[in-house]
Amino acid sequence: MLNKNPSRVPLMRFVLGAVSVAALLAGAPARAAEPVQPIELPKAVNPAQAELGKKLWFDPRLSRSGFISCNSCHNLSMGGSDNLKTSIGHNWQKGPINSPTVLNSSLNMAQFWDGRAEDLREQAGGPIANPGEMAFTHELAVDMLRSIPQYVAEFKQVFGSDKLSIAEVTTAIAAFEETLITPNARFDQWLKGDMKAINDQELRGYQLFKSAGCVACHNGPNLGGTSFQKMGLIEPYQTDNPAEGRYAVTKNDAERFNFKVPTLRNVELTYPYFHDGAADTLARAVDTMGRIQLGKTFSTQENADIVAFLKTLTGEQPRVVLPILPPSSDTTQRPRPFD
Ligand code: HEC
Ligand code: HEC
Repeated sequence: MLNKNPSRVPLMRFVLGAVSVAALLAGAPARAAEPVQPIELPKAVNPAQAELGKKLWFDPRLSRSGFISCNSCHNLSMGGSDNLKTSIGHNWQKGPINSPTVLNSSLNMAQFWDGRAEDLREQAGGPIANPGEMAFTHELAVDMLRSIPQYVAEFKQVFGSDKLSIAEVTTAIAAFEETLITPNARFDQWLKGDMKAINDQELRGYQLFKSAGCVACHNGPNLGGTSFQKMGLIEPYQTDNPAEGRYAVTKNDAERFNFKVPTLRNVELTYPYFHDGAADTLARAVDTMGRIQLGKTFSTQENADIVAFLKTLTGEQPRVVLPILPPSSDTTQRPRPFD
């Protein structure tokens, strides 16, 4: 196993050690056949790009108000989400849809609930220019950065060019986002052979998660992010939210109300659930999923077992040292929070 992150080396040794000891003592079966795989450590990202991307991630001057940063709606202290039903945008506008977590989002086949952005780079340009989110323009964002000498110097150092373009901005943000991986959840430890990493109830929950059919859609290392699926396969889903899902992108009627299957990694932290944020608790989300996707009504005990399993998917959260942002210069546009 490649290990790109030196700070995790001792921990990984410990885990690998535990795996081999457990395998020797208990004859632990290889779990290659499971529909869920452990999450691997962040792939190699350019560290200088990621460091610059981290500053941009936290910089509210990329918004018209000078107050909203990526972290406002994807708070890395709260599982990379805002824990609101739908997000609050510029001028306290009510957002149209629930903010998905950015943790492990590099593992998804596409970005946004309807998959309209192919990858993180393409996605990162969206919120800056979205009038309902950061309400800026790409030109103003680039002008802002060019007015700050320390940013100019850092972009030049990282990209080797004087251009400082929006493409460089989104490349750096995407590099930072690729570091936001949460490995070594208790469930991953179990997948790797540590039988004691999850308890009996959590194991029952996983078995039911498989036998009931949840894994048909929530599979792979991210337990989601691998397909678009109808919300309300067996029974229609009732909501006031006007989002149409994949249909908005493809205009194919068969894909109306198909949404990207969200990851269940760290789902304990990313409430409320569904694209409309209608389910406040995991118990409610599991109940809804059982009924409308699978035609199953779980008993209170079964529901609690699945919820217990889902909570084993909380991984090690990225340790982010808060960046100190370079000061504005006299020519930097001043914030316009109220217009
Ligand atoms: C005002 C709140 C808000 C701000 C600010 C914001 N986002 Fe988002 N973000 C959202 C919402 C809401 C969605 C879902 C939109 C959709 O699917 O239509 C989203 C979706 C995403 C996704 C897709 C995740 C997935 O699994 O589909 C990523 C990645 C992301 N944002 C990154 C960023 C970055 C980078 C920034 C800063 C440049 C940013 N966001 C700023 C609210 C926000
Ligand atoms: C047919 C595919 C499918 C099946 C089967 C399925 N899901 Fe889902 N799941 C989805 C989709 C699509 C969403 C997002 C729907 C939306 O928000 O409109 C979702 C959302 C969720 C969420 C909310 C995640 C979030 O961050 O908002 C949870 C929790 C969840 N599913 C758990 C389960 C469980 C537990 C089962 C089995 C009982 C299950 N799902 C079965 C497709 C499926």
